[in-house]
Amino acid sequence: MELSTDPDRLDIDLNHDFLASSYWAHGIPREVVVRSIEGALCFAAYDEGRQVAFARVISDRATFGYLSDVFVAESHRGRGLGRRLMEAVMTHPDLRTLRRWHLVTRDAHGLYRPFGFLPLARPEWHMEITHPDIYIASGAHGE
Ligand SMILES: CC(C)(COP(=O)(O)OP(=O)(O)OC[C@H]1O[C@@H](n2cnc3c(N)ncnc32)[C@H](O)[C@@H]1OP(=O)(O)O)[C@@H](O)C(=O)NCCC(=O)NCCS
Repeated sequence: MELSTDPDRLDIDLNHDFLASSYWAHGIPREVVVRSIEGALCFAAYDEGRQVAFARVISDRATFGYLSDVFVAESHRGRGLGRRLMEAVMTHPDLRTLRRWHLVTRDAHGLYRPFGFLPLARPEWHMEITHPDIYIASGAHGE
């Protein structure tokens, strides 16, 4: 298994297929996936040249990083690949000085906890705007 941060190696169709049916980016258009990759530091794992895992960090590469779109292909889950991907993310030289990391997860807390991620210490200090149905509402439906 090989890990890489080269965006040119990514399988855009695979990323789009997975994300468009995920619980957090349901219906995301392919063009938005392409732009999301362009604007982030992307990590992927390859098995015999085929992409089997993905994660991206949206960051200024100085103070803040948002970890997003983490997935491992079903065929490769439960074998430590998610953990290996997270090790690569958390040790990347461009991300060493971040003052804050952030992520949102429905049920994968067990993957992130060993890397130091904790529930919000002061949730009352945080504010957000979310548009969970944005792709559906726009009628894009993952095209
Ligand atoms: C979550 C996901 C990336 C984990 O990848 P993986 O390669 O199967 O994970 P690993 O084998 O490296 O497991 C690492 C640890 O994370 C834990 N973990 C993995 N998925 C978990 C989940 N959904 N909930 C809780 N813990 C989880 C494992 O139990 C394991 O800990 P352990 O060794 O102490 O048991 C993978 O299941 C996946 O792609 N799920 C669908 C997409 C998704 O939900 N992504 C996360 C969005 S925040």
